[in-house]
Amino acid sequence: VSDGVEGQERIYLDGNSLGPPTPRVAEALAAWVRDWGEHLIGGWNELGWWDLPVTVGDRIARLVGAAPGQVVAADSVTVNLYRLLEAAVALRRDRRRVVTAADDFPTDRYLVASVAARAGMEVDAVPIGSLADAVGDDTAVVVASHVHYRTGELADMARVNVTAHHRGALVLWDLSHSVGAVDAALDATDTDLAVGCSYKYLNGGPGAPAWTYVAHRLLESMPNPIPGWVGHLEPFAMADRYVPAAGIRRMLSGTPPVAGLAALDAALEAFDGWTPGMLREHSLTLTGRFLDHVDTTLAGVGFELVTPRARERRGSQVSLQHPQAYAVVQACIDAGVVGDYREPGICRFGFAPRLLTVADVDAAAERIAAVMRAGSWRDPRFAERRTVT
Ligand SMILES: Cc1ncc(COP(=O)(O)O)c(C=O)c1O
Repeated sequence: VSDGVEGQERIYLDGNSLGPPTPRVAEALAAWVRDWGEHLIGGWNELGWWDLPVTVGDRIARLVGAAPGQVVAADSVTVNLYRLLEAAVALRRDRRRVVTAADDFPTDRYLVASVAARAGMEVDAVPIGSLADAVGDDTAVVVASHVHYRTGELADMARVNVTAHHRGALVLWDLSHSVGAVDAALDATDTDLAVGCSYKYLNGGPGAPAWTYVAHRLLESMPNPIPGWVGHLEPFAMADRYVPAAGIRRMLSGTPPVAGLAALDAALEAFDGWTPGMLREHSLTLTGRFLDHVDTTLAGVGFELVTPRARERRGSQVSLQHPQAYAVVQACIDAGVVGDYREPGICRFGFAPRLLTVADVDAAAERIAAVMRAGSWRDPRFAERRTVT
């Protein structure tokens, strides 16, 4: 993207927060509005709108190692996570504890606290690397991000799942910072439940519909704590009593966000031909290259590395601590390297494997180093806080 920074291209290291639109998304949205005007109410049947949550869900399933029929796309991550957490707790109501990752994303923390409190359960918040060790015989559910939003640390999904199942607990993963970059093998690791967003590495656009995964083996017994007509077995029977739909449709609640699903469907075309393994390998190449720069190009400029270095312990972002991190990020954006800031004191640089090359990483490191050497972040205009950081 050319943004006029001394004629240079902007290097976008924030695809882990909001991915950019592909040309296909622009085309698909324009066509969607035309189709809507032409088909009107008929669009639900004639254009497949009614089934979009499931057809888009199946496209996402491929990227998280899930067989078809287990993923559905709709609503925000917050709503999807609430649904699954409430359901998981209901399925283990004889138990007293919920294990979660300390300092997880705020939505996850707020939901865990509120759902656990209403179920009369205690919360054990532990470091992301200690989830498996914290599971006991009284654990109802383990709920955590697969990749930590602030540090970029990657949880050991397979080990947590095995340990939790051994103790009779369920596991619910938030894949918001994995899907499209880190290869979560949901079926192969015997994952129970998962959610994730679509506006980060999947490039579905701001507020794109999130998604829910429920393993086939659990579907029949999954309650939906937001029982709405769209998840009903016979939505147009307008029946008095709620009877859940067969399969993954039962996790839907209200009218699907069709415009958002159409945009996401088009965005996902960029992943055709890419396996989760290919995405992960390229992501590791990019983060590995940036970590090399942290030790060389960026050595001695005032950063402290927060993200674990080991391949098996890092996601697709590199987080650097700095006492004036907010101003540093703003100065980097001004110099054509877009990252973001997270409290407390973290510069976050995300590496979207479908967007970036090793040459981009090299150029970004050079520009960040130039900002740091010149001290341009000290300019007072970079300290002004905006609403979204
Ligand atoms: C790990 C994680 N979970 C949940 C959310 C929030 O999702 P939503 O705003 O779609 O509810 C985010 C947003 O960045 C996130 O990073």
